Amino acid sequence: MSSRGLEGVVVAETELSKIYGEEGRLVYRGYEIEDLAEHATFEEVCHLLWYGELPTREQLAALNERLVADRDVNSEVIDILRRLPPSTHPMAALRTGASALASFDPEAEDMSPEANQRKAIRLTAKMPTLTAAIDRLRNGKEPIAPSKDLGLAANFLYMLSGSEPDELNARIMDVAFTLHAEHGMNASTFAARVTVATLSDMHSGVVSAIGTLKGPLHGGANERVMEMLKAIGEPENAEPWVRAALERKERIMGFGHRVYKALDPRAPILKKLAEELAAKGGNTKWLEISERIQAVMREEMGKRGKPIYPNVDFFSASVYYTLGIPSDLFTNIFACARTAGWTAHIMEQLKDNRLIRPKAEYVGPLGKKVQPIERRG
Ligand code: SDX
Repeated sequence: MSSRGLEGVVVAETELSKIYGEEGRLVYRGYEIEDLAEHATFEEVCHLLWYGELPTREQLAALNERLVADRDVNSEVIDILRRLPPSTHPMAALRTGASALASFDPEAEDMSPEANQRKAIRLTAKMPTLTAAIDRLRNGKEPIAPSKDLGLAANFLYMLSGSEPDELNARIMDVAFTLHAEHGMNASTFAARVTVATLSDMHSGVVSAIGTLKGPLHGGANERVMEMLKAIGEPENAEPWVRAALERKERIMGFGHRVYKALDPRAPILKKLAEELAAKGGNTKWLEISERIQAVMREEMGKRGKPIYPNVDFFSASVYYTLGIPSDLFTNIFACARTAGWTAHIMEQLKDNRLIRPKAEYVGPLGKKVQPIERRG
């Protein structure tokens, strides 16, 4: 049975999340995503994914202590990032930084469950520090040392700008991290699982995942959504712009999904965050353009008999841009949050591992004979 892009093929059992594609629902270990976004912090969600349950106060304090202690990145890795050309895409720089972390992690080659759990925490703690340092260095500035007093998401915003975010911005970033933490067997998670299924190491699995998430059909879509919003420029341009793009058979970034055949449940939560930010800052333009795009896509794709809906990347673009984050850092934010899910899947894969090696159907020629080079061509 062959299925292009493994569409519809079940490659593993997982206890981490369930996606209800037809209904547009998402559950992390039994909890609806709306409930987690509203009532849990990203750190609590990390605990849920890694240990199977939301933490008690003591368990959360212990995890927070580790996430704070592990968020520093050693100077040797920063110096490697310093040598990259400033034009390097931040996701390419993150791929390099995450890989370099392994050389300074004494447990990098230790694949015991205990070492992997400690590495999951270290990687999740360090990805925001790497991302902020990448942005500072490419702008000719020195990285800002992580705060020991802020939560993971708030500290990320602090390390980007040097000023502590206000309560609303900190909460919005935290919810965005929760929404991006985990999503079943998406392409980057699958890449991580394929990598460690050979009994390679956790850092290699995360580096595979970063390279996979970078693509515009996956995590790279949020950056391209922002480019689209800027290209459209004003709300009144949205409709003609989208119609022309569809005429050219182009994909509208931030729409459609391999599994959701209804609205991605993360989209309305992010839309609400974008509305809160727009109300606070007074700039509703990006949200208005987004809503116009959504309306014309509903009409156009409905006419084509192919209803497709906004996915997680569509409204996250307006949220991050309004938070003052440059659009080419958006996928790095996705990677920072998804490191929790990637590492949880890596540990799940290794609990009951089997090398992942599908088949390919050969459709090339057969029965050919080697000719001397003089008689070729
Ligand atoms: C993420 O897998 C995950 O869970 C990923 C993710 C996660 O949390 O990990 O949810 C995060 O990656 C979200 C998706 C971000 N990508 C984009 O926004 C890029 C734009 N989207 C598309 O390229 C597309 O929708 C995919 C890649 C996401 C899904 O594509 P599929 O399942 O391969 O569907 P398809 O390409 O077969 O499309 C079906 C039809 C096609 O029309 P026909 O060729 O049959 O005529 O729908 C059309 C497509 O042309 N279509 C679109 C479209 N997406 C699909 N048309 C216009 N714009 C789009 N965005």
